[in-house]
Amino acid sequence: VRKLILDVDTGTDDAVAIMLAALHPALDLLACTTVNGNIPVDRCTDNTLRTLEWIGRGDIPVYEGLPTPIVRPDFPTPRATKRDPKVHMNVLPLPAPKGQQQPKSAPVFLSEAFAAQPGNITLIAVGPLSNVAAAIAIDPAFASNVDELIIMGGAINKSNITPSAEFNIWADPEAAAQVFRAGFRKVTLVPLDATHEALVSREQCEALRNLGTAAGVAAADIVEHRIQGYEANQPTGTPSTAPVHDAVCVAALVQPGIIETKFVNVVIETIGEYTIGRTVVDHETRTTRPPNCHVAFHANRTAFLAMLSEIFSGGPKAGP
Ligand code: BDR
Ligand code: CA
Repeated sequence: VRKLILDVDTGTDDAVAIMLAALHPALDLLACTTVNGNIPVDRCTDNTLRTLEWIGRGDIPVYEGLPTPIVRPDFPTPRATKRDPKVHMNVLPLPAPKGQQQPKSAPVFLSEAFAAQPGNITLIAVGPLSNVAAAIAIDPAFASNVDELIIMGGAINKSNITPSAEFNIWADPEAAAQVFRAGFRKVTLVPLDATHEALVSREQCEALRNLGTAAGVAAADIVEHRIQGYEANQPTGTPSTAPVHDAVCVAALVQPGIIETKFVNVVIETIGEYTIGRTVVDHETRTTRPPNCHVAFHANRTAFLAMLSEIFSGGPKAGP
């Protein structure tokens, strides 16, 4: 069983990632940490608590993290407000949480948790990397204590928040730059290029809802909301599908074959007027910078969907 901690900005696809990690028998989700991103961090915390309690995992602790990026909270605009409410939900359609977050801040918790079990825990970061950069600042040994760091983020040939960049990296580019310089033992980046190959359709949402489980019903409601948001944002002839970016990272931890990666060099642009937040990938083996990251260029949609329906058929039933 693989131990993991999920750093989230819940977030609709974050919620699917949390349910997959909390219910998968091959995973031991030790905790969730929240960060400012899709929506303000206090809302991310509340949504994360709702998600865990909904599937009967209110025992998993939640630690709240940074409310703003580490360097330029408002450059060029308040970043968290750039997220599209059509795709994300300020309040997930789940009962209000009974529990509450832990008193310790997320970066402090992260630095202590990984120091206590060096090399034993995987960190999956599916929001801006502010908490991860803060944990590095707190404990210089943090990067070497993490067994593997899997990041949802990055834009190679596909982007979203700007023509150059993907939201998680763009929202705190200086944090991302720190993370890619920190020397983690193993870094896997799952960019939009891969996550947009693991699309979920309305029909597949219906199949998840028909599982009759809390996870299946919630995943169906959440992904259908995302599909509506994508259709509203796209011109005519819109596909009735949506990516579930963050859940692909969790699936890849359990089944590495779900993504196809190349070991390349990645650096983060933190200055360019039009390119800030870009993951600059060096596909060639130039001598200037050695490879430092396993970048996923493809994802296996069939295997991803099979895992969602398998794992979401378990757990508590839906309804009172
Ligand atoms: C990332 O940003 C958010 O929309 C999702 O939660 C995902 O983590 C995709 O760019
Ligand atoms: Ca996210």
